Amino acid sequence: MKLNEIFCLDVIDFLKKIPMKSIDLCIADPPYNVSIEKWDMFKNENEYFSFMKRWLNLLLNRMKNEGSIYLFNNQYNSAVLVPFLKNKGWNLNNWITWYKKDGFHPSKTKYISNQETILYLTKNSYSHTFNYDDIRVPYLSSDRLESAQKKGISKNGKRWFPNAKGKLCTDVWEFSSDRHNKKINGKVQKNIHPTPKPEKMIERMILASSNEKDIVLDLFSGTGTTSYVAKKLNRFYIGCDNNKEYVEFSKKRLDNKC
Ligand SMILES: C[S@@+](CC[C@H](N)C(=O)[O-])C[C@H]1O[C@@H](n2cnc3c(N)ncnc32)[C@H](O)[C@@H]1O
Repeated sequence: MKLNEIFCLDVIDFLKKIPMKSIDLCIADPPYNVSIEKWDMFKNENEYFSFMKRWLNLLLNRMKNEGSIYLFNNQYNSAVLVPFLKNKGWNLNNWITWYKKDGFHPSKTKYISNQETILYLTKNSYSHTFNYDDIRVPYLSSDRLESAQKKGISKNGKRWFPNAKGKLCTDVWEFSSDRHNKKINGKVQKNIHPTPKPEKMIERMILASSNEKDIVLDLFSGTGTTSYVAKKLNRFYIGCDNNKEYVEFSKKRLDNKC
């Protein structure tokens, strides 16, 4: 199948065209069944989970043995999918909490949901790519850091020196949603797509779980965020969404025309 292309196809037809064991990294951002758009509506939970399991079954066979998958969803759907994925032989390396820093649905009867889940899965626990040094994050305390860099800090009888690139990345990620970032005077703006993912968050996944020239699969590509970042980081990409308008937009984005 042609690389560096976004296909306007249903996910099932698309995945059937991908060769077995060919993908290094998949970032999958499917519908969540929360009725955010027409494409996010299912008759009931049964219909939703049978759709999810159908395409996941096809995807898992297309991943290389050393490959990695990042799967977006809400907590409830993720909790339902974890046993299914584990039964298929995949390890849940991390349940990543994306702290979005803006409310999903205002509510006065319960806490406002301000997070989404990203399941980080690999087939093998040790042989996958994980470039932890490329995704270090700043230390919290900059005051102590300066002196620690010079003199070190005593830890378990040894001197510890902070890493100049920052500390290791945890499984709680703080990124404002695109919807929030693009607000004007506090008002959400109408965009071509309701849920584009922040580029910086996708960048972290690609840097950590792939190397240059690897193949990144952008499943449910929407505005093409994953493909766009993969291209910027010298990875091959291949994407799919069944909405013509979104696919056309992503192609323009990839050509830097929007
Ligand atoms: C959560 S959005 C993805 C957003 C994307 N990550 C971005 O950054 O713009 C989910 C996407 O799945 C697409 N979609 C829904 N059902 C699909 C199907 N059966 N096959 C292919 N794409 C589908 C929708 O058109 C929508 O763009």
